[in-house]
Amino acid sequence: MKHFISLHDVQNVQELVQEGIRQKANRFADQELGKNKTIGLIFFNQSLRTRLSTQKAAENLGMKVLTMNVGQDSWQLEMEDGVVMNGDKAEHVKEAAAVIGSYCDIIAVRAFAGLKDRDADYQEIVMEKFRQYSGVPIINLESATRHPCQSLADLITIEEVKKTARPKVVLTWLPHFKPLPQAVANSFAEWVNQTDYEFIITHPKGYDLAPEMVGNAKVIYDQDEALKGADFVYGKNWSSYTHYGQVLSTDPSWMITQEKMALTNNGVFMHCLPVRRNLKVSDYVLDNQSVVVQQAANREWSAQAVLKTILTNM
Ligand code: CP
Repeated sequence: MKHFISLHDVQNVQELVQEGIRQKANRFADQELGKNKTIGLIFFNQSLRTRLSTQKAAENLGMKVLTMNVGQDSWQLEMEDGVVMNGDKAEHVKEAAAVIGSYCDIIAVRAFAGLKDRDADYQEIVMEKFRQYSGVPIINLESATRHPCQSLADLITIEEVKKTARPKVVLTWLPHFKPLPQAVANSFAEWVNQTDYEFIITHPKGYDLAPEMVGNAKVIYDQDEALKGADFVYGKNWSSYTHYGQVLSTDPSWMITQEKMALTNNGVFMHCLPVRRNLKVSDYVLDNQSVVVQQAANREWSAQAVLKTILTNM
């Protein structure tokens, strides 16, 4: 694996999940692998879990870590080619990515969707520019359309928690008043589609994800019907893909409550975090029926599995 921008960079998903589980069991086994290597963590957006877990994973492997918040610690970066740079962006990504690549052996980038122009977001311009100009491996720390480090941690968590070989996994849309990206839901669907789990997606009409992300998953517009017998309920809000970036519903009946969880097979609730309590999911579910902290903790092992695989192939 040279880059980790999306699932398409991964040769064997199950092997990477198992690598994460192995790293968790023996976190310092490969601490010589990253010796004298540096990773740059480049954030265009805020983060709690991604920033800390990736730093920790890199340090477990013996790497040095540089972190930069673009636009706060650095100049604002221009992404378009051929423009007259007479606005607020003082540096072009061509130079910036190349310079960061001269300091770092691996660059990890977070850059969310703008949610204004679907074609632009789905072209993954920031990831592509860093891949094109940096000259080093790129790791996606959540881009416009995907969050693969999260999805890998999610699969590690399901493998740890599942009680049957082929659990029923339901991805459900949750209500929210702000337009949020599709990245986490897209990525989760894409990765679960690589497993043999039974996989259902449920959301109100108008919230269909991109067809290439839905894949072979069954889509059910009735949430109660979808939740019946679920072993895992993965909650996430996303804005509309078809009416791009719009909030079409804030229907509170889609919030996950104790009553909704009673429809499941004694299932557990999952969410990537951060999550707004009693808007998307009730206090009771988060405090008694969720594995959200285990999921977040597994971000360290997901990042470590990815870094180990890239370092081994350098
Ligand atoms: N789940 C996740 O990516 O969390 P942060 O946005 O806090 O990094």
